[in-house]
Amino acid sequence: MTPQEESVFMDTKQFYETHGQEQVFRFWEELGEQQRASLLEQAAEIDLEEVDRLVANLLRNEGGEAKIDFSTLKPAPYLPIPEDIESDPAWQEALTLGEDALRAGKVAAFTVAGGQGTRLGYDGPKGTFPVTPIKGKTLFQVFAEKIQAGRLKYQATIPWYVMTSHINHEATVSFFEENDYFGLGSDSVRFFRQGRMPAVDFEGRIILEGKDRIAMSPDGHGGALRALERSGSLQEMQDAGVEVISYFQVDNPLVRPIDPHFIGFHLKSGSTMSSKMLPKAYEKEKLGHFCLQGDKTVIVEYSDMPDELCAARDADGQLSFRAGSIAIHIISLSFARSLASDSSVSALPFHRADKKVPFVDEAGATQKPEQPNGVKFEMFVFDAIPFATSPLVLETTRLDDFSPVKNAEGIDSPESSRKDQVSLFRSWLEAAGVTLPSDFAGQVEISPLYASTREDFLKAWKSAPRELDLSGDIFIG
Ligand code: UTP
Repeated sequence: MTPQEESVFMDTKQFYETHGQEQVFRFWEELGEQQRASLLEQAAEIDLEEVDRLVANLLRNEGGEAKIDFSTLKPAPYLPIPEDIESDPAWQEALTLGEDALRAGKVAAFTVAGGQGTRLGYDGPKGTFPVTPIKGKTLFQVFAEKIQAGRLKYQATIPWYVMTSHINHEATVSFFEENDYFGLGSDSVRFFRQGRMPAVDFEGRIILEGKDRIAMSPDGHGGALRALERSGSLQEMQDAGVEVISYFQVDNPLVRPIDPHFIGFHLKSGSTMSSKMLPKAYEKEKLGHFCLQGDKTVIVEYSDMPDELCAARDADGQLSFRAGSIAIHIISLSFARSLASDSSVSALPFHRADKKVPFVDEAGATQKPEQPNGVKFEMFVFDAIPFATSPLVLETTRLDDFSPVKNAEGIDSPESSRKDQVSLFRSWLEAAGVTLPSDFAGQVEISPLYASTREDFLKAWKSAPRELDLSGDIFIG
C-alpha cells in the first residue's frame, strides 16, 4: 500500500471504530492488495450515520419511525370497476385520454427487477424465469411483447426502463442481448442499478459475507425513486417528452404494462401517483391495504394490520379494509422528480426485513444460516403515495392484472400463475364464441403479439377467426 492508501485505510478504520463497526476490517491482515481496495470501496459507499439511525429506530425501537394510528385508520376510497366498461362514459373518456397520451409518446414502461427472489429459489434474475403455459416464455419476454404490442397499436416509442441490482445487473443485460432485446431495439430498453444497503446482525453490527465482502443487499423497490433520478433516467424521459411512468413488478405475467384506462384515469383525476387495487379474496390475504390516515392515503402492510381491522365488515357484509394493493402504479414524471429532489420528501422510510444472511465465521469461511440471523433495510415504493397529490386508487379484476410468481409452490407460484393465465385466455376464447369441450384439459396460451387485451383479442379474432384443434393444447400467436 502506498502511504496515501495507508492513510485512507487508517481514517476509514477509525471512522468505523467510532461507529462500533470495526469488525468490518477484522480480516484486513489476511487480504491481498485488490481485496483491500475492494473492501475499502464498499466501506466508503456506506453511510454509517444512516446505519446508526436505522439500527436505533428499527432494531432498538428508539422511536423516530412514523407509527400508524390504528384507532383513526379508515379504508381509502377507490374507483370501482363497472359491470360493463364499454358502456360506461367515465371509462370511455379515460380510455380516450390514455390512448391519446400513448400516441403522443407520453408514457414510459418501468419494471422493478432488482429483487433477490429468494422465495422462488430460482438461480438467476427473476425476469428470466419461464412462466407461460405452453411456450414457456420468460417474464421479460412477456413484458417485452406486451410493450411491443402497445408500440404497434399506438405507433409510439414506448421506452422501457428496467431497474436491476448489483447482484443481477450483468445477468439481466446479457439476457436481453442474447435475445436481441425481443425485437424492441437496444436503444429503447434502458437498465440501471438500484442502490444497496449493508445488512446488520441483530445487534446492529454490519455483517461480512466474505473476508473482503460486506453483506450488501438492494435497498428495496422504493429505492427505484432515487435510482431513477440518479441514473439520469428521469431526465432522459423528460427530454423525450414522457409525462407518466407505468410502474410494475417483474413477477406478474398478467400485468398490463400499457393500460390506457389506467393512464387516462390518472390524467383525468389530476393524480400524481395512482394505484390499482383488488378486493381482497379473504381477510388475511397477503396484500397491503389502502387506508386513509387523516387526509393521507397510505398502504398498511398485511403484517402490520391488526386482526380486528382485517376482519371488520361493512353493513353489506363486505370487508371494510378490502382494497388490496397489487403494486401496479402510474407515477407522474414531475412527481418522481420532486420526490427525488425535495429532501424533505425524498427520504422514504426504511423498513426492517429479518433474513438469512450468509456470513463469514471466525475461521473466514462463509456460512449459510438456516434461520434469519440478520436485518436488511428496504424502502417501499408505496411510501411515496402519502406525498402524492390526489392519489387515485382504481379497481381492477384479478385475472386481468394479477397472478404473481413469488413462491416455489402453492399460492402465487409458477403453477398457480400458469393456471390463471390459462383461465384468462380461455375466457377470451369463450367470449369470442369458441366453446371448449367440457372435458378439455389442455393448456391455452395467447401471445401478446396476437392480442394483449380481451378487447384486442375479440377484434383480431372477429376479423380473422381460426380453425382450432380442440383436442390438445391451444396456442394462438
Ligand atoms: P418482492 O417483495 O417479491 O421481493 O419484490 P423479492 O426480493 O423479489 O423476492 P423475495 O422476497 O426475496 O422472495 C417485489 C418486486 O420488487 C422488486 C422485485 O424485483 C419485484 O419486482 N424489488 C424488490 C426490487 O426491484 N428491488 C428490491 O430491492 C426489492
